[in-house]
Amino acid sequence: MDLQAVFEARYSVRDFAGTVVEAEKVQSILEAGRLAPTARNNQPQKILVVQQPDRLEALGKTARLYNAPLALLVCADTEQTWKRPFDGMDSGQIDASIVTTYMMLEATRLGVGSVWICRFDPEVVKKDFNLPDHIVPVNILALGYKTDSAEPGPFHFSRKPLSETVAYDKHNW
Ligand SMILES: Cc1cc2nc3c(=O)[nH]c(=O)nc-3n(C[C@H](O)[C@H](O)[C@H](O)COP(=O)(O)O)c2cc1C
Repeated sequence: MDLQAVFEARYSVRDFAGTVVEAEKVQSILEAGRLAPTARNNQPQKILVVQQPDRLEALGKTARLYNAPLALLVCADTEQTWKRPFDGMDSGQIDASIVTTYMMLEATRLGVGSVWICRFDPEVVKKDFNLPDHIVPVNILALGYKTDSAEPGPFHFSRKPLSETVAYDKHNW
């Protein structure tokens, strides 16, 4: 599958069959995240592989996981993130999101469905997963095989034309 095919095949799966994802595929997905670029190559990501039923249930208290058998809790370690000297901007959210993107696309390439989830209460996650203060939960990537009836959601088909999102040299934003 070339990259264009991966882009075209991917959509947010919100109906997982619950079938376990093979360990080799999980490994390959994690390896893809390892190759992601991060600010100053600091690699501040910390990824918790959540697959035990009681741990998925704990995560499911604050995030809809759509019956996924596996979720990657992608965190940023603020003791390792790069801070921009001009304004102190912390690269953690960006770094964790690039890592998440790489893993999501690799999952697609392997035929594994995914949905990126930010709608969770970070305080609940921190408490339930015993995260120290410097480990910030950024994204959850729920993974699994979709059910036969799973379909892309309505948002999937509504991409804005480039004319609404791109300007050349001058803009009227
Ligand atoms: C930063 C980010 C946060 C998201 N959070 C959620 C979420 O909490 N729950 C959810 O069901 N989908 C979530 N999504 C998935 C988007 O809703 C989805 O990617 C978008 O509607 C386009 O649909 P598609 O992925 O099927 O192409 C998130 C995606 C991104 C990139």
